[in-house]
Amino acid sequence: MKLDVLMIGGGMIAHDQILPSLYQLQRREMVGGISVVAQSAATVRALAENETIRRAFPGQSFRAYPEYETNPTARDPERYKQLLAAMKPRQIVVVALPDQLHYDAVMEALRHNQHLLVVKPLVLSARQALEIEAEAKRRGLVVGVEYHKRLDDRSLLARRRYRAGMFGEFKLGTARLMEKWYYRHSNFQNWCTVENSDAFTYIGCHYVDLVAFVTGLKPVAVSVYGIKDHYPNGREGYLYTDARVIWENGACLNVQNSLSFPDAAPGTNTQGITMYFAGAGDDGLRRGGWLEHSDQYRGLKYCYIHEPAAPGATMFAEPSTDYFQYVDLGGPGLEPVGYGFRSVEFIIRNILRVEAALEGDRGRLLHELDEAGVMATPANSSYNELVVEAGRKSIVEGGREIRIDDLGAA
Ligand SMILES: NC(=O)c1ccc[n+]([C@@H]2O[C@H](COP(=O)([O-])OP(=O)(O)OC[C@H]3O[C@@H](n4cnc5c(N)ncnc54)[C@H](O)[C@@H]3O)[C@@H](O)[C@H]2O)c1
Repeated sequence: MKLDVLMIGGGMIAHDQILPSLYQLQRREMVGGISVVAQSAATVRALAENETIRRAFPGQSFRAYPEYETNPTARDPERYKQLLAAMKPRQIVVVALPDQLHYDAVMEALRHNQHLLVVKPLVLSARQALEIEAEAKRRGLVVGVEYHKRLDDRSLLARRRYRAGMFGEFKLGTARLMEKWYYRHSNFQNWCTVENSDAFTYIGCHYVDLVAFVTGLKPVAVSVYGIKDHYPNGREGYLYTDARVIWENGACLNVQNSLSFPDAAPGTNTQGITMYFAGAGDDGLRRGGWLEHSDQYRGLKYCYIHEPAAPGATMFAEPSTDYFQYVDLGGPGLEPVGYGFRSVEFIIRNILRVEAALEGDRGRLLHELDEAGVMATPANSSYNELVVEAGRKSIVEGGREIRIDDLGAA
């Protein structure tokens, strides 16, 4: 079985991870036709004509909206709605839009009976996540939230070991993910601004999700201190954030995020997590457990002889083999590897499984996916929306602690 895919949004994540992953699944005959709709013809043109993707997937293409060849200056933020209305039911919609636009697009896709893969964060409020959950359940549709760090083998290893009691109980943790400075010059300056999002909401949510994914604990209180800075276009964003998340057992996770890692530094970002645990060993004596993931440095050091043209790319580089790379396995083209690809594949595979089942079995399968908790769904990961909601409230109040129970939607 293969299903058609409509991707809404054609920006950075579409280019870096989602479109190449969909092309690879098309190669494997798991997906049929691929369409991409963005707000402007220029965006879909840039994606369609991208040299790296063309070289990796010779002969593969997507249907582009707006039609950039006939109308190169078209802009149409409503176009995706017409495309959803015209789509065959029970296919796949990928939402790769700015955070604050996810909710409308997801609900519109559900109303047209489409399965969904949504880039994180699903939405910005828990009430919206619950609404999405109920609508999808009613229609027997999958909503997979693409928290790709979950499909990093190190996260899956940590989860198994934590749940086997090998570390003890989580007590204290610190995580960081700093994106490169050049992000400020990208389309981010048009949407990741103080009124819509912030560095923690945009990227810190990965580590909150990961701690819940590994430990099974739920967050209960959040405070986020944000530092405003100006984008090149003059708009303001919370471009540095320091978040403190308290968990139901009293544990504390600190998460620092920013769009500030120097463009001249090697690698695409800096990121990692340290967790401290406590528990009794076989001898009954209490001792400390510890986990440290260096998520940006994988031991490769390269120095090239040419200055790379891409923003944030450097002559001295420390490439990560883990998130997303292309390798040459003899062709045609190149194969994407890494947890970025595996995560998209995993969600699409789950959608195909549910779609292939008898109608009467779909509810049970959806429930199993929620319960297994490996794929993030609105039912098993809406603590992320609660954290985002509390975080957004806290950041505008200068970092005041917001208890999740006090949000009203919890
Ligand atoms: N590490 C990660 O998990 C990760 C990394 C990057 C982005 N993201 C998420 O991906 C999403 C998109 O981020 P991005 O970096 O690709 O942003 P981006 O600004 O590069 O791209 C956004 C895209 O949305 C399109 N768009 C906006 N309004 C539209 C409309 N009405 N109809 C059709 N298209 C529309 C724009 O044309 C653009 O192509 C965000 O939710 C972000 O949080 C996740």
